[in-house]
Parts: sequence; structure tokens; C-alpha cells
Amino acid sequence: MHQPGIPHLAAADPQVAALVEGEARRQFEKIRLIASENYVSAAVLEATGTVLTNKYSEGYAGKRYYEGQQFIDPVETLAIERAKALFGVDHANVQPYSGSPANLAVYLALANPGDTVMGMALPAGGHLTHGWGVSATGKWFRSVQYGVRKDTGRVDLDEVRALALAERPKLIFCGGTAIPRTIDFAGFAEIAREVDAVLVADIAHIAGLVAGGAHPSPVGHARIISTTTHKTLRGPRGAMLMSDAEFAKPLDKAVFPGLQGGPHNHTTAAIAVALGEASQPGFRTYAANIVANAKALADALLARGFDLVSGGTDNHLILIDLSNKGVGGKPAAKALDRAGIELNYNSVPFDTRKPFDPSGVRLGTSAVTTRGLTVDHMPRLAEWIDRAVAAGDDTEIDKIAAEVRELLADHPMPGWV
Ligand SMILES: Cc1ncc(COP(=O)(O)O)c(C=O)c1O
Repeated sequence: MHQPGIPHLAAADPQVAALVEGEARRQFEKIRLIASENYVSAAVLEATGTVLTNKYSEGYAGKRYYEGQQFIDPVETLAIERAKALFGVDHANVQPYSGSPANLAVYLALANPGDTVMGMALPAGGHLTHGWGVSATGKWFRSVQYGVRKDTGRVDLDEVRALALAERPKLIFCGGTAIPRTIDFAGFAEIAREVDAVLVADIAHIAGLVAGGAHPSPVGHARIISTTTHKTLRGPRGAMLMSDAEFAKPLDKAVFPGLQGGPHNHTTAAIAVALGEASQPGFRTYAANIVANAKALADALLARGFDLVSGGTDNHLILIDLSNKGVGGKPAAKALDRAGIELNYNSVPFDTRKPFDPSGVRLGTSAVTTRGLTVDHMPRLAEWIDRAVAAGDDTEIDKIAAEVRELLADHPMPGWV
């Protein structure tokens, strides 16, 4: 049953309620390995479902365009103060609707259409909004893209430096969406300084690891930090921009009125709750466990002959190149989904297949760690993945799904009782 309960929804709109219940059960019964997902706490879930969704509050605390901000202003201020304390930054803006608009606000604040910008190419692990061609950021700016080395699967800072020196970008994005290795913020910062660019660290994936001390912090290196709040940080769907005091005004102006109207106050409250949770000592253990689980899963997959991009992981994320298994990423992801193991098919660096039918799958351990799975469970996960990828028929896959359900029955999920 969905928790908090949804009796009013069930009475008013049974059709939607049944779909919500179905999704809650699905999340309970699946080993969720999508690297960008997690399970929020019941407290975060409650905050997103409050009357704060009724309120408009364009502007910033103390300077709004609508009356009645007696409770919204303190909610937003609380979220900001918690973000500043948790990450150790001068300035935080908690209004971006999500990670993509947060990144767009960075461009709006610091660049003009046609300016040269630099980011990691999507197939190498970067995000669309780091200047990839189909994104507005690739269409409206002159985007140059760095990748990873073919022999290591890792970023080569000498190549990044050479490209930056040749192209002189105004902005350099580091971070991405499929990077299994530690990001060298200090190394990127040195390059940005050499070419007089502003370094933007997009820590959407690793924000929870940074907050929990399980990944180095970009603070002191990147002058702007962009993050979503819903991945390893385990908050609601949303985003934040953080920076030195120097960029506070241009970033705030870019978010509102530059790009957005009223902030989503129910989300802001839930971000405040999630940041409160992330500042508890237990969150450091959680972040360490995410990484320990990812390393244990990577080791178990390697032992079964899987080919991992860069040879392993330093964080929550694993990228498997399935070429040596003779199966594409998409059919493997579909078989795994039926087996109760949810992940996404993903391009691997230098992929010879198309993005919609790529060679790889991407996994992350944030959600399973929230469910309480430990390093001792990871060999079993690797075994299931191996069996499902190799399975010739649905009988074997359905057998795995039953085993998965049995394991998860003993691991409570926030949001489901
Ligand atoms: C590194 C990075 N930046 C930005 C985003 C965009 O976030 P959203 O999907 O909330 O727009 C993502 C999403 O996966 C991401 O991985």
C-alpha cells in the first residue's frame, strides 16, 4: 500500500490511484539499479504532497511579487541555509525546476548565444545540457566537447587542456551522467584558470556522495555547482545552483525572472527535508555504503566476465559494455526488467551501435542501498544479472524475478508498507 496513504485520491479518482499503487508495488518488488533514481524518505514524500503546492511566490524571500509569503519565505530560506551549510558554499538557489533548467540558467547567467562552451560529450558520459548537439545548449552556443580515452575509459586532462587552449571556452562543464570514476575538480579548475573560463561542476549524480564525504567536493575548485536533488542526495525531483558570492546575483536573476516563474514550494520544502536528512551522521554511512556496494557489485560482475567501462567504479555507478557477451544493451535491459532488475540501456564510449540500441547498460547502487542491501548481497545481484543476460527463455527469467521478490520482501521501502 502506498505510504502515506492516498484515501482521497482512491475515492475521487480510482483510475489514477490504482496506477500510483501499481507503481508503488513495482518499486517494492524490483531491484532498482537506475543510477539516477532512489527512494525518498516518507518525510520527503509527505512534504511533496502538502498545501504548499497551492502557493505562488515569484521572486525571492523578502522580495516577492505575490502576498501571503509568511510561511513560504522561511521554508525557502531554510532550504537555502541547509544547502549552504551542508555543501559549504556562499550561495544557494533552490528554485530550479530540475537539473536541465538549472544548467540552462548557468548559460543564461554567464554566456551569450554563439559563445564557445565546453562539456563532456554525451556518449562519453556527459549530459545533454553540457552542449550536446540536440540540446538547446548545443544549438545556441558554439559547443566543443571532450571525451574519454579509448584505452582507459577515463577523462584525460591533457586532452581537455589542449582542447580548452585551442578553443578558449567561456564555460567548462565537468561532471556527467555516466561517469564511474572520481572527477578531478582541482585538475579541471587549473585548466579553467589557464584559459580564463568559469568551471561549472554538475554534481547531479554524486551530490549525495559529496554531501556524505564519499566523493571529493568541488567547493573551492568550481565557481558554480549545479545539482539535481533526487539522485544520490535522495530528495524530491528538483535542483539547486550553488556558487561563490560573486555569482549569486547573476544566477538568481537567470533562474527568476530569466527562465522561470513561480518556484514549486512543495518541492522546496521537500528539498529542505532531504538536506536536513543528508546532514545527519547516518547519511555519511549511507554514502559510504553506496560506494562499497558499487565496488562489490563491480568486482562480482568482473569475476563473471563482464567488461566494465574504465575497469570498475569509484562511485555509485557502473557502466557495462556487453559487446563480449554477444547481446545488445536494449534486449539485456528488457530481459533484466522482466527478471525484476531495473536499469537502463546506455551508450558506451566509442559505441559502434546507435543510441537507441547501444552496447551497454548503466547501473547504480543508491536505491538498493536505501533498501538496506549490503556488500554481501552484491554477488547474488551479479549472479542474477549474469543469468538473465544469458537466459534463453522466459522460464529462467521468471525464476529470477521470483528470487528477487523473495529477497526484497524482507527489505522495507520508504513509501510502501
Ligand atoms: C549530470 C546531470 N545533469 C543534469 C541532469 C538533468 O536533470 P533533469 O533530468 O532533472 O533535468 C541530469 C539528469 O540525469 C544529469 O545526470
